[in-house]
Amino acid sequence: IPVDSFDLVIFGGTGDLARRKILPGLFRRFRSGQMPAEARIIGAARSEMDDAGYRQMIREAIAEFGSEEKQDTAGIDAFVERLHYVAIDATGEGGWHQLRDLMRDGVIRAFYFSVAPSLFGALAERLHQHGIADASSRIVVEKPFGRDLASAKALNATLAEHFDESQIYRIDHYLGKETVQNLMAVRFGNVLFEPLWNSHYIDHIQITVAETVGVTGRGSYYDKSGAMRDMVQNHLMQLLCLIAMEPPSIYDADTVRDEKLKVIRALQPVEPHQIVRGQYEASAEGPSYREDAENPRSFTESFLALKCHIANWRWAKVPFYIRTGKRMKARSSEIAVVFKDLGHTIFEGDTARHRNILSIRLQPNEGMDLQVTIKEPGPGGMRLVDVPLDMTFADALGPDQDAPDAYERLIMDVIRGNQTLFMRGDEVEAAWAWTDPIIEGWEARNDVPKLYDAGSAGPEDAMMLMHRDGRRWREIKG
Ligand code: BG6
Repeated sequence: IPVDSFDLVIFGGTGDLARRKILPGLFRRFRSGQMPAEARIIGAARSEMDDAGYRQMIREAIAEFGSEEKQDTAGIDAFVERLHYVAIDATGEGGWHQLRDLMRDGVIRAFYFSVAPSLFGALAERLHQHGIADASSRIVVEKPFGRDLASAKALNATLAEHFDESQIYRIDHYLGKETVQNLMAVRFGNVLFEPLWNSHYIDHIQITVAETVGVTGRGSYYDKSGAMRDMVQNHLMQLLCLIAMEPPSIYDADTVRDEKLKVIRALQPVEPHQIVRGQYEASAEGPSYREDAENPRSFTESFLALKCHIANWRWAKVPFYIRTGKRMKARSSEIAVVFKDLGHTIFEGDTARHRNILSIRLQPNEGMDLQVTIKEPGPGGMRLVDVPLDMTFADALGPDQDAPDAYERLIMDVIRGNQTLFMRGDEVEAAWAWTDPIIEGWEARNDVPKLYDAGSAGPEDAMMLMHRDGRRWREIKG
């Protein structure tokens, strides 16, 4: 469905995210007919450039970062006609009058802050001062949203000076992923799972987001963040919320976000022995983290595994094990819900442990499988065997050529005014409130990450985190 007409201003419009994700994504939405005829995108950045220069830059970006749509030269020609450019000085006066004169009345105004968070305040203030933003405008901000609770609160306060919470769209691109939204469909669209979704039937839950990429080229950012700030505080926290939250009464922005917030607030503090930090070292599979990050003395974690508990009735004593890492053996994100053992077996001689496991593959090879126990065929009596009831979404539904990627979907949601898949300010703060003491503990102890080989499944200690509870991680396979 096409959205209402809009003027979307991208501050940082010449930057990496704009060229790699935002503009190629908008082009795909344009091709699929979702962008209304007069919608415009206005790049704003420091460098001097005219519309023609910007259009050429975005042509090249689509050629470099787009997929098959980059062959559509006629489409690209039509798309870049929608682009404009204003050279702007975020902290000074230059360019703001031109921007104001360019904006049209009667269309949705959205402002994407694809710039360093230190500029958010200056941008918000100038948008108001020059009468460019009004009460119906929207702003979009990217992670990192702060680096601890204090800085996140300060950012929220800065934005709140000029914008109402209902105008602020904090992006966590994991929420824009089809399979992440599918977590809610699976839980709340089936009668089968929800009755079992609690401590009576679930032994534990595992969340894995393993990546094969290292931190080459972005060491200066990553080395100051590490896996906790870069992945756990946001993306993995969101996955945890969607798996653990109570059913919202309706699928609506604040109702869903209220339920997620309750989960974060119920997270117990994590003890040092329940966390393993790791850093990859060079192997036949690749260079070391320190080489990638260009910091030979770095103690930043490129891997994190932890065990946590949610202190509420539903999840009493159910551990959540979560892990994420760079340069691991395969790219694989999966959530596994491991059900409890049978309380009693009627099959004499069957001593094996049979467990139902629901695993949801977020990427790649999106799908889900349910491990079920059946009779092993043959005359040997009632011998049991565990087999997967496996569904790959692309097989079940057919490949969807036009499926929007996370950014495209989220930007269209901004224009639609739908905040369901965006983080609310209090959610982000609650996530930092849980993360802060963990990071402070590492700093106070001068914690040194455990080494793991590039291309492996992470440090040995991460295996132990589970083994000592009599459990084990699922295999990481791409
Ligand atoms: C980003 C992190 O937010 O998410 C990156 O900063 C990470 O370090 C990326 O690689 C992972 O996203 P995806 O969509 O590739 O799983």
